[in-house]
Amino acid sequence: MSTNQTRHILIQTYGCQMNVYDTEIMWRLLHPLGYRAAASEKTADIILINTCAIREKAEQKVFSFLGRLALLKQNRPQLIIGICGCIAQNQGKTLIQRSPCIDFVVGTHALFQLPSILDRVWNGQHRQKVYVDFEDHLIDVDLDHSPIMNTDISGFVTIMRGCNNYCAYCVVPYVRGREMSRPSDNIINEIKHKVSKGMREVTLLGQNVNSYGKREGMVSFSALLAEVNEIKDLLRIRFTTSHPKDLDMDLMDAFANLEKLCAHIHLPVQSGSDQILKRMNRKYTRKEYLAKIDRLKNKCPDISITSDFIVGFPGETREDFDDSLSLIRDVEYDSLFAFQYSDRDIAPASQFFPKVDDKIKRDRLIELLDVQSKNTLKRNDRCIGQCHSVLVEGKSKRDTDQWTGRTSGNKIVNFIAPETTNNLNAFLVDVFIEEACAHSLRGYLCHMK
Ligand code: SAH
Ligand code: SF4
Ligand code: F3S
Repeated sequence: MSTNQTRHILIQTYGCQMNVYDTEIMWRLLHPLGYRAAASEKTADIILINTCAIREKAEQKVFSFLGRLALLKQNRPQLIIGICGCIAQNQGKTLIQRSPCIDFVVGTHALFQLPSILDRVWNGQHRQKVYVDFEDHLIDVDLDHSPIMNTDISGFVTIMRGCNNYCAYCVVPYVRGREMSRPSDNIINEIKHKVSKGMREVTLLGQNVNSYGKREGMVSFSALLAEVNEIKDLLRIRFTTSHPKDLDMDLMDAFANLEKLCAHIHLPVQSGSDQILKRMNRKYTRKEYLAKIDRLKNKCPDISITSDFIVGFPGETREDFDDSLSLIRDVEYDSLFAFQYSDRDIAPASQFFPKVDDKIKRDRLIELLDVQSKNTLKRNDRCIGQCHSVLVEGKSKRDTDQWTGRTSGNKIVNFIAPETTNNLNAFLVDVFIEEACAHSLRGYLCHMK
């Protein structure tokens, strides 16, 4: 493609960090071919929607954006619209039947074919084609050769794709396929490359990072962490998500032994009731989960623990829900995400009964978040009067006199520094915490490392 043919693309990303990372891969594949970011929908030649299917609401957001694009296309018929990501993989052809404005559909497994697909669509061939086979799942094709343009201070690197756990409510195993781990050399090289471009904190991504390398007989996740810990100029390591059933002693030890590994674990529990955990196919009991939390707290007393909960799973009684509330009180999470259960056609729980009434789901969500908000404040209050190491990510958006960053425990900190202070971006600094708010901490710079 010659430069006078620059194609302007807008990629709209929904969903989890996996999708954010996949959008980055799309850019890495497309930028060397001359594709450039469009400033807005109006100036885009091509609009790609990287979609999420996890809950009905996530899908609704995508479809309302698509509705806007359909109107745009009425005035500009040459606009190319492509759907990728998890809804694409799941719904394939039916998407085009539902929204004829769509030019092509690329499933999660055809990500690396995007350049050739776009070329064909651009040249007027293969209109309204659908690429959703599971066979083309080659995890690292072209990735090693595709340049990293620029990177944030804190960035993502996917270490594995797919999921084998089949939780009864979840679409991920169906839209992302079987678990596949990337070779550790590729992961290390990518992190090193990003560090050379300015990244200082990496979050290793996978639906269940604890099972990294198991299927392929490669190094374990803890061994991978130890390798990443050796990377020069990388300051911090995070990971998400780990499944409680697979959290082992090696990983717990890593929190005590690896100085770059942040003191934070996201350990989604989903429910505090054994009956519901069983129906969800989570493969652990409340007792086993709590025992692991205790061990983690012993290994790393300062660890921040966060989680995901689902309220209103089919069959959830008031007693089951009370078990979730008591678990939240027992663990004292630093923060959590909670969702109303949402039926997904392809997930088995869509056939589970009795369904919980929508109003009850809404009320339970509010009640649960209320219980947690007390924990969050309590956990944030504990930081007052302490010095915390903060990786600075820039100036605060709200108040540009302040800097912003996160503690090792992943709490946002806004802080002041003397006007004469040099640029703090990408440095680890010590911040004295003076005040705790609902979602962040406030303080002042006390020491630069
Ligand atoms: N792999 C991660 C979770 C990925 S999905 C894990 O196992 O923890 C992120 C969260 O979305 C889940 O933890 C769950 O709380 C929520 N979720 C998934 N499917 C859902 C559904 N059908 N309805 C409501 N919440 C759902
Ligand atoms: Fe979904 Fe369960 Fe896999 Fe997480 S572990 S992605 S919740 S099936
Ligand atoms: Fe959504 Fe797909 Fe992530 S369904 S949560 S974008 S793996």
